[in-house]
Amino acid sequence: MEEGALREALVGFIGAGRMAHAVARGMLLAGEVQAVNILASAPSNRNLDKFQDSGCKTTHCNLEVLKNCTFIFLATKPHILPVVLQEIAPAVTPQHVIISMAAGVTLQTLEELLPIGTKVLRIMPNLPCVVQAGAIILARGTCAREQDVALLKRLLSPCGLCEEAPESYIDIHTGLSGSGVAYVYMFAEALAEGAVKMGMPGTMANKIAAQTLLGAAKVMLETGEHPAVLRSAVCTPGGTTIHALHELEKGALRATVMNAVEAATSRACELGKR
Ligand SMILES: NC(=O)c1ccc[n+]([C@@H]2O[C@H](COP(=O)([O-])OP(=O)(O)OC[C@H]3O[C@@H](n4cnc5c(N)ncnc54)[C@H](OP(=O)(O)O)[C@@H]3O)[C@@H](O)[C@H]2O)c1
Repeated sequence: MEEGALREALVGFIGAGRMAHAVARGMLLAGEVQAVNILASAPSNRNLDKFQDSGCKTTHCNLEVLKNCTFIFLATKPHILPVVLQEIAPAVTPQHVIISMAAGVTLQTLEELLPIGTKVLRIMPNLPCVVQAGAIILARGTCAREQDVALLKRLLSPCGLCEEAPESYIDIHTGLSGSGVAYVYMFAEALAEGAVKMGMPGTMANKIAAQTLLGAAKVMLETGEHPAVLRSAVCTPGGTTIHALHELEKGALRATVMNAVEAATSRACELGKR
């Protein structure tokens, strides 16, 4: 498919849950794809309603997605995926680009379950794609071409940061960013609760905690500075921040977070081997 045809391309989602909707919403908000050019399938109407509300087409038939779309996102839970691949394999052609977002399902498995020569890619998004601030890693299969990767990046870039990487980074990305969103919420909660303890109303504390995380992340991205450099710039000798950082060090914040990333990455590897 030519790049200019992207706006008219039919983008399909097999599985229409939280992550499919987050990715579709990111694409729509940026106007990269028109709603009428998105077709989503799922067995029930539970999640399809959200696609319909955005003006997208929906169906209960996965094969209809194959028939109408070029870019097919596989967005069912990982344990459902083998059944879906078996169902769609006879309808997959060399024109299709199949993109799986299922955690733990490897490119090798996808290629084995689809016809020889199928263009296959894996992506690992995270939920902030819904507000166009996601972090996505993509890895290409043996038959995916440079232009497939370029078009996929263009489709996904409205959802946030989108980087190509070796497949082995996908589990690490899950530990860092997919699950990482939850660690950040836990940190935000603790930050706000500290303020509540000191007498600030909860609603205000939550809002300021969120804005603090957003601002700190923005500075880190925009300056490209190492976080340690940015952190030390906030520390006045003998001031408030260094006293607080000492408490965080006593609580082993850094070692605990590193352990959390390691635990989630190992779990993602383990789930992928099943
Ligand atoms: N959530 C995350 O943060 C996250 C992050 C990275 C990657 N992922 C990956 O994204 C994928 C989807 O996760 P999710 O959280 O979006 O799950 P979800 O909300 O449970 O959505 C799953 C969707 O699959 C549909 N489905 C079930 N059986 C199907 C079938 N046979 N054919 C077609 N569709 C079928 C469901 O239909 P109904 O609507 O009828 O129930 C639902 O729409 C998973 O593989 C997960 O590993 C998720």
